[in-house]
Amino acid sequence: MGLVDGKVAMVTGAAAGIGRATALKFAGEGARVVVSDIDIEGGEETARMIADAGGQALFVACDTSDADQIDALVAKTVDTYGQLDCACNNAGIEGKIMPLVDQTMDNYDRIMAVNARGTFLCMKAEIAQMLKTGGGAIVNLASVAGLIGFPGLSPYVASKHAVNGMTKNAALEYGKAGIRINSVCPGGIDTRMLDSLAEQATQGAQDSHEMLDPLHPIGRIGVPDEVAGAIVWLSSPAASFVTGINMPVDGGFVAQ
Ligand SMILES: NC(=O)c1ccc[n+]([C@@H]2O[C@H](COP(=O)([O-])OP(=O)(O)OC[C@H]3O[C@@H](n4cnc5c(N)ncnc54)[C@H](O)[C@@H]3O)[C@@H](O)[C@H]2O)c1
Repeated sequence: MGLVDGKVAMVTGAAAGIGRATALKFAGEGARVVVSDIDIEGGEETARMIADAGGQALFVACDTSDADQIDALVAKTVDTYGQLDCACNNAGIEGKIMPLVDQTMDNYDRIMAVNARGTFLCMKAEIAQMLKTGGGAIVNLASVAGLIGFPGLSPYVASKHAVNGMTKNAALEYGKAGIRINSVCPGGIDTRMLDSLAEQATQGAQDSHEMLDPLHPIGRIGVPDEVAGAIVWLSSPAASFVTGINMPVDGGFVAQ
């Protein structure tokens, strides 16, 4: 018996990293999964990995900074599998590391468009659908950068604080409608994004393990599957009384 047996789950940014691990975990725990990303090749590969393991998955291309594409993604999910029970709004970008004074507004606008506005648009479309069937569960990808600051990352930090704020607000608005809405706040997780951040922060002098393993109280950065486990649990009936939280999954990073 899986944690999400019989459910239909949708994951954005699921061509790689945390999104791919989450799509695989949803399928492993019994859900039919809509895999979505702007990266078509990677997204189709994730769907294939699920099918090869005996699960059911469909890939749908979607840029989460575009409202029409998000509406089409939710419509395709319902057309194919009849409902939407669990949604993980994972697509995100890191942008460029620079002190605030040197930040370009292009960098700020793009980060906000994908991370903050994209998550807002996804929730709008997902909640509208979930209201039709009487409930559901949403997990947004924030970050430890949604709880505390990181010098050089002001647009990213702003976008992830926005995700945590809109998560709490949506949870208040839709709790009585049977929709639970939470976020996870990962620490350093071994993905392309973390490699890019470490490369930028140290000008290539250190990789993400050298730079970030010692900064986590648990002694290492995490792996995508460790975040996926928290996301699928939060999405499942096992978390039926949990809503409106911004849950660190960070090896103790923000406990310091
Ligand atoms: N890796 C970390 O250390 C870490 C820590 C905290 C939070 N996060 C958050 O977790 C999420 C996933 O990060 P990751 O580390 O797996 O990154 P990643 O770069 O490995 O994967 C991100 C995926 O999102 C997709 N994507 C980017 N822009 C998109 C768009 N506009 N529409 C649809 N898809 C888009 C990419 O194609 C990619 O497949 C992000 O929201 C990130 O901010 C990551």
